[in-house]
Amino acid sequence: MRILIVNGPNLNLLGRREPEIYGSTSFEDYFNELKNRFSGIHLEYFQSNHEGALLDKLHDAGSKADGIVINAGAYAHTSIALADALAAIRTPAVEVHISNVFERETWRHHSWLSAKCEGCIFGLGLEGYALAVEFLVRRFRAAGELGG
Ligand code: DQA
Repeated sequence: MRILIVNGPNLNLLGRREPEIYGSTSFEDYFNELKNRFSGIHLEYFQSNHEGALLDKLHDAGSKADGIVINAGAYAHTSIALADALAAIRTPAVEVHISNVFERETWRHHSWLSAKCEGCIFGLGLEGYALAVEFLVRRFRAAGELGG
């Protein structure tokens, strides 16, 4: 099983960026931990600060990944194009936000991506990514058992 984790703009700064909100662990360190925890799963990580690069990666994942975990950062609140890409590829996706966007500015309360994802996790810190991977693994296995 192949799962792609996609992080959008400014998430390359995790560990240094507003640690009181996003914590002090870099995503590279967390990703290594995830790979150990899910050693039987092929996990891939992609980050970009560019909307077009994120779109290209999602299109590519449409044929290559069995599941997507996406934190589009601020693009979640602005990008209809990323929402359209998720709808187009139909690969099951889970939206993650590290912070609890609903206790922050009101403009962070809406995400264009949410309706195109199977579900959303927000406010659980980096652990949200592990929970999203866990869900996708279970979903994939259940579909296999049903012959789907
Ligand atoms: C974020 C929340 C967004 O509002 C913000 O723009 C980010 C990070 C989160 O993970 O909490 O870049 O997606």
